Amino acid sequence: MATELKVTVPDIGDYQDVPVIEVLVKVGDTVEKDAALVTLESDKATLDVPAPEAGVVKSISIKAGDKVSMGAAVLVLETGGDAAAAPAAEEPKAESKPESAPKAEKPAKAEAPAAEAPAAEKKPAPAKAAKSSGAAVAVTVPDIGDYQDVPIIEVLVKDGDTVEKDQTLMVLESDKATLDVPAPSAGVVGGFKLKVGDKVSKGTTVCTLAAAGDEPAEAEPEAEPEAEAAPVEAKTEKAPAKDDAAPKTKPASSEPAAAVASSSDVIPYASPSIRKFARELGVDLAKVSGSGQKGRITQEDVQSHVKKVLAAPPAAAGAAAGSGIPPIPAVDFSQFGEIETKPLARIRKISAAHLHRSWLNIPHVTQTDEADITELEAFRKEASDESAKGGGPKLTLLPFVMKAVAKAMDAYPEFRASLSPDGESLIHKNYTHIGFAADTPNGLMVPVVREVDKKGLVQLAIETGELAKKARDGKLSGADMKGGVFSISSLGGIGGSHFTPIVNAPEVGILGVSKAVMKPVWDGAAFQPRLMVPLSLSYDHRVIDGAYAARFIVSLVKLLGDMRRLAL
Ligand code: COA
Repeated sequence: MATELKVTVPDIGDYQDVPVIEVLVKVGDTVEKDAALVTLESDKATLDVPAPEAGVVKSISIKAGDKVSMGAAVLVLETGGDAAAAPAAEEPKAESKPESAPKAEKPAKAEAPAAEAPAAEKKPAPAKAAKSSGAAVAVTVPDIGDYQDVPIIEVLVKDGDTVEKDQTLMVLESDKATLDVPAPSAGVVGGFKLKVGDKVSKGTTVCTLAAAGDEPAEAEPEAEPEAEAAPVEAKTEKAPAKDDAAPKTKPASSEPAAAVASSSDVIPYASPSIRKFARELGVDLAKVSGSGQKGRITQEDVQSHVKKVLAAPPAAAGAAAGSGIPPIPAVDFSQFGEIETKPLARIRKISAAHLHRSWLNIPHVTQTDEADITELEAFRKEASDESAKGGGPKLTLLPFVMKAVAKAMDAYPEFRASLSPDGESLIHKNYTHIGFAADTPNGLMVPVVREVDKKGLVQLAIETGELAKKARDGKLSGADMKGGVFSISSLGGIGGSHFTPIVNAPEVGILGVSKAVMKPVWDGAAFQPRLMVPLSLSYDHRVIDGAYAARFIVSLVKLLGDMRRLAL
């Protein structure tokens, strides 16, 4: 039978009128037992109020900005079974356990109610510090309530790190609560021997904090004559109260994260439940920007970070979101001379992402060769002149190369196939639409000529000319650039010899054509001057074997060397 359970703020130690900084659920939400419902944040602690039982949120009594104390109504939960173990319920049901007596003197201590009662996930008061003869302060685990032998689940600093006061040093997690152990003062970490998995209790030595310049680990005046280097807690119970504008955990330094900084160098500012949530999703909080108060990371921030990473194209994700590719360190070029920064054109950004994606995903091999186009060139010139006289298009080498590629694909059809997205099969395409790279003021574009195998050279010359003009005028439609099975990148009008074109994924091959030059070629009896065009065939080695690619390029060389073969 459904029961209504009123959830109230549990014992949160000395705190009164603690601001609600986040309500993590809404009416109608189904929550698990111990799921964080709201986050409270005082000067010193961030505490999550967990659900005492699994159930459905019926109504919510508080909103962000409200100030609450122990016993304040949070929300009403409709629970499925009996509401027996509802420790924080305002109206104790039949079996409710009484709340454990508040430990009056303990600041920032979310009392762990007895037995199965849920404790607030909380950040305890800063780790206790004992002044050690001036410079170094020994830091111990503070009073963490009823907990003993709590495992460390995260260590956020290492020896030599400079930390700010209240910066989280490590995170503990018991069955019921996640607790951040913050630095009691600013300083330089030393002697940090603990590691993830170690179990700690109140008083366990954490590390020392050597005073960093102007901030010698300050306890309050009356706490001064403490044991020197002993790892015993100083009487700092009152310290939290006098700690005014203590900076919360946040990126450790105000300087921008240097490009060389690893994500672990930056301490994100998030409540324990959000840390836990992020850990479950494998999210590095250092990479999430916080939209909450003072830059605090909220659950939505983590969710939208995950969505962004999943939605990002592999190239962007690889470059920015850690696919194991180290980022290129940022350089301030202005230190070497005058600079001017101009935004990239949209086309360039799109093609950059696409090229990067192809480059990263495809194991490329480039096979080169040279085709003797002496006869072809003689014919091309003649035909081009005739075409021009009759008002037809200029005939360049490109249509010939297109035709040769289309013909070679009849014998080597895998060059117009694509790998299925799951990598399990090869998708054969029985059409021969070929793209060609066009150099435009806005960047590289690849318009596609349809059914190259069915068209004559003049028709191909007309279509490539029109598409190249449209590309340069920025008038290509999306459809003009779709459906290609293979691409050609012709740099022959410019110069250069071989190069390594990038396969235009999901295609599996691309042919680079460079400038034809006269070369002495041995014919078995003498060197003959022949016009040789360099060809560079890049292919996806997951799909195309080296021998297959070599045969394909040899077939191209033959076709270009003797155009009669095109008609066979
Ligand atoms: N060897 C020698 N000369 C060549 C040649 C080659 N391989 N390819 C072209 N030429 C000649 C042409 O015959 C023409 O000569 P002509 O004026 O004497 O008749 C001249 O170079 C210019 O040709 P071009 O305008 O480039 O025509 P095209 O049909 O060969 O190429 C494009 C059309 C759109 C492909 C080309 O203009 C272009 O943009 N190329 C750049 C592609 C690119 O950027 N690729 C890089 C991708 S990473």
